[in-house]
Amino acid sequence: MSADVKSLSDSHVMNTYRRYPATFVDGSGMYLYDASGKKYLDFVAGIAVVSLGHSHPKVTEAVSSQVTRLAHVSNLYYTEPMARLAEKLCDLLGWEDGRVFFCNSGAEANECAIKLVRKRSRLEFGQGRFETIAAFDSFHGRTLETLAATGQPKKWEPFTPLPPGFRHVSYDDLPALEEAVNDSVCSVLLEPIQGEGGVVVPSPDYLPGVRKICDAHDLGFIADEVQTGLGRTGEWFGFQESGAVPDVITLAKALANGLPIGACVARGDHAEAFEPGDHATTLGGGPIVCAAALAVLDTLESEGLVPRAKEIGKYLGVLLDGLNGSHSSVTGVRGKGLLLAVQLSGDFARKVAEDCLEQGLLINDVGPSTLRLCPPLIAEEEQCTQAVSILSEVLSKFDGNEVSS
Ligand SMILES: Cc1ncc(COP(=O)(O)O)c(C=O)c1O
Repeated sequence: MSADVKSLSDSHVMNTYRRYPATFVDGSGMYLYDASGKKYLDFVAGIAVVSLGHSHPKVTEAVSSQVTRLAHVSNLYYTEPMARLAEKLCDLLGWEDGRVFFCNSGAEANECAIKLVRKRSRLEFGQGRFETIAAFDSFHGRTLETLAATGQPKKWEPFTPLPPGFRHVSYDDLPALEEAVNDSVCSVLLEPIQGEGGVVVPSPDYLPGVRKICDAHDLGFIADEVQTGLGRTGEWFGFQESGAVPDVITLAKALANGLPIGACVARGDHAEAFEPGDHATTLGGGPIVCAAALAVLDTLESEGLVPRAKEIGKYLGVLLDGLNGSHSSVTGVRGKGLLLAVQLSGDFARKVAEDCLEQGLLINDVGPSTLRLCPPLIAEEEQCTQAVSILSEVLSKFDGNEVSS
């Protein structure tokens, strides 16, 4: 890896990431390349972002042609890509009465959703209902408000006091949720599958049960689809298989295949709650990112990549199950579509990911003993076989070594 880039970054970029030792200069489809020309198979996809693969020609074309025409005017004026993208997202959700607020990231999309539901509750019930119930081990972002929503007390510690208005219950635990509801609560915020928490898939009756509780108490149900949305789980949206329809969903990551965008989509009276002055952004919903996102949605649709994610996810899942049978260092495999995790027998996930990187495969650790695989949705069977073969070879070194490292 380039020593210049590492030392420049180490001196001048804030120390917020424990970066893997690789510097990438090019990407194409499923592959990344470093400055020496070494090729890497990418099963991280920029953390579930680059669903169409790197440098997809349709996105490149949409961005290039938009940037040569018009890059930015602000939300003081109308622009066509934003209008079309909002219509498209509502169509995909089947929400005829849906409305979208565009922003620049997943955290901002969640901030918007939290504010939106508070506002709707204020209009309906007056002051007093402002709390959001979220789940332990969730991840919703790093702004102060979304950090407070994130159910990981270790991440709160350096920044307390956090904004009030958030309480947490165990994920996939309906009685705990029911018990937590009181007259101060206005919303429930959950991931359909907990991504950063280790790819935790809830039982099939969980989301329908959440919907029922929200209906019974007139709470806004926010589904954080930042990681699960847009085909990643083999459905357009992670909530869909459950049949439980949220009031608000948040999107980001894959929406523009690597350009910064977030979206908060609401239906019913939630869609109508904001009025001018309630929420705003200078850059959000700009023509370039919206043109890119339109190209992404069009490509996901025209190339059938959502059902494909389900199919290829099953194929990859079977291969990973094979590792579970053949390596003592693996204790389980879980996930859905192309959002999969391998549970290890000890705290060596980082080391496994580093060794895989050296062998030309990107996977990442989402916990000391958990690896996540979330390749682009264009992954072929052959590439899954190759990835699992590299992973298997690396894991062999950890078999019989089931201790924390
Ligand atoms: C479920 C979920 N919500 C929110 C976020 C935050 O998104 P961003 O990093 O774009 O702010 C993430 C990021 O990993 C996420 O996985």
